Amino acid sequence: MNLKIPLFKMYHDEDDIEAVSKVIKRGTYWAIGPEIEEFEKKIAAFVGTRYALTFNSGTSALHTLLLAYDVKGKEVIVPSFSFIATANAVVLAGGIPVFAESEADTFGLDAEDVERRITKKTKAIIPLHYGGFPSRDIEKLRKIADQHNLFLIDDAAESLGASINHKNVGTFGHSAIFSFCQNKVISTGEGGVIVTDSKDVYEKAKLIRSHGRVELAEDYFSTTQDNDYVEVGYNYRMPTMLAALGLSQLDKIKKIISLRRDKANYLSCNLSKIKGVSVPKELAGHFSVYQMYSILLENEETRNDLQEYLLKKGIMTKVYFNPIHLKTIYQVRFGCKENDLPSTEGLSRRVLTLPLYPHLNNEELDFIVLNIKNFFENRS
Ligand SMILES: Cc1ncc(COP(=O)(O)O)c(C=O)c1O
Repeated sequence: MNLKIPLFKMYHDEDDIEAVSKVIKRGTYWAIGPEIEEFEKKIAAFVGTRYALTFNSGTSALHTLLLAYDVKGKEVIVPSFSFIATANAVVLAGGIPVFAESEADTFGLDAEDVERRITKKTKAIIPLHYGGFPSRDIEKLRKIADQHNLFLIDDAAESLGASINHKNVGTFGHSAIFSFCQNKVISTGEGGVIVTDSKDVYEKAKLIRSHGRVELAEDYFSTTQDNDYVEVGYNYRMPTMLAALGLSQLDKIKKIISLRRDKANYLSCNLSKIKGVSVPKELAGHFSVYQMYSILLENEETRNDLQEYLLKKGIMTKVYFNPIHLKTIYQVRFGCKENDLPSTEGLSRRVLTLPLYPHLNNEELDFIVLNIKNFFENRS
């Protein structure tokens, strides 16, 4: 389909091309190159954690983190209102996902509901910071985790740069992950990162990331010595070209976030005047990076009709998210069913994510607003 306005586009410039070209032209260190550690150091400094460890996706980062925390055979409380990787990572690590409700303010995990679902088998909680918004209940969730001796592992895939009272998302829990997939705040095409203050988690994750290999002073490809392997691990490493791209993207993250916020404010100013449209709001002290711009409609019928109407006008939208617990694998394997999570299911019926990216121009923004206005005028 030839859409006039896609859901997202990556922000890029000549520096990105040069950064990747430099690694390619070097003709060596395309794997395990120096740019990887440099990117990790800069991400850790940006987020405010002691360690950062890059991965070839946010999913492999989360999977590794759950292996490092050893959730095998244990329950892990997760949102159903999330991308499926949040729950899949638990299953892949041998844990049991227990779905909890999400709240309607920031679409994060609802602390009260989480607390109700804690059992003797619970080992961890994975809060979501939805679409660039810090989760409303993140501080409450940290308290709950500490009271019950649980690990709080933030799925901050969508929210690099977001903060609450200047404390960055990614530092509220015991460890966190971010994604650099193409629709994220900054991107390396595919990629992810673990951030943590724990040396132990960092060391374990490093082993799992790379075959369980004990690294020597020189990297694997440059040493004549034989490495030992002390774990069964994966190859979840980020390629050097992508780390170089990540460094170049990170250099302009402030600009990217500022552009995203400008476009989001423009949409909110105009869409909030339309009866029947509920726009995203930042809570006091919260700073959102608007990885997504999601509105709520009155009901499922209106949402679906609007989506169809906008598609006909060439405007892409998407439902982020339909509940994970209602996907076939979770119904069949874990016995989940409709009405298990009424709040989540209600949110999923009403949510619609609109296009938002740094280079959306005024004409495109007005086109989106005008068509949503027209939809509601034609309807009434
Ligand atoms: C909430 C959430 N968790 C995890 C992931 C997984 O990240 P990736 O696509 O980089 O594997 C994503 C990305 O789409 C996400 O949105």
